Amino acid sequence: MKISASILAAKMTALSTILPTFKKENIDYIHMDVMDGNFVPQISFGEAITKEVGELTDIPLDVHLMVAKPEDHVQKYLELKPYCVTFHIETTHFAVRLAEEIRKAGCKVGVSLNPATPPEAISTILPYLDLVLLMTVDPGFYGQSFIKTGFEKIEKVRKMTSPYGIELEVDGGVNESNIRELEKLGVDLCVVGSGLFKTGNPNEQGKKLKDLAKG
Ligand code: DX5
Ligand code: ZN
Repeated sequence: MKISASILAAKMTALSTILPTFKKENIDYIHMDVMDGNFVPQISFGEAITKEVGELTDIPLDVHLMVAKPEDHVQKYLELKPYCVTFHIETTHFAVRLAEEIRKAGCKVGVSLNPATPPEAISTILPYLDLVLLMTVDPGFYGQSFIKTGFEKIEKVRKMTSPYGIELEVDGGVNESNIRELEKLGVDLCVVGSGLFKTGNPNEQGKKLKDLAKG
């Protein structure tokens, strides 16, 4: 199991102390939750903070755009050379064009689905994707509970994505209690916010979650 640390749940002013403690074997990616106060209720941070976070660590960035019209914003993030840029299928009419633009820039393309969005919403664009990010909470806040129908949806989406070699990432409410089950269902990558940062030592907790996932 790979772990992507959602810094939304961290104390922002302490990031310059916390991030250098992260070891690549425990934390695979830094998950950047970009929120615009439009697609989701809150405003979090944009490309300037994303750039600064990238300068604090060698761990690659996993950018999660929770913004309306992602095609108007993507370029600023591509310039930062993250591992992956993920946009929401609910936010654009131009998913294929956007996916091609992201790949052309040398980044992995991710598409995210809200809990209420059916898996079929991405069935015709699978060949254009490298990653699917399944939300297991409604996006907008850290610290929410994993939704009851999450496991069922993961199973359905895994069947759709595996023939294409697409990575499956799960975001929302992941913690010690469910990471083993997520591993068994074939999830490749878990975003963890409060499950990391609300513990005393997020780097150590990354290792613990990976060990729990292995069983
Ligand atoms: C929610 C964000 C998540 C969130 C995860 O809108 O996309 O990445 O910060 O936080 P936890 O793990 O606390 O649910
Ligand atoms: Zn996220």
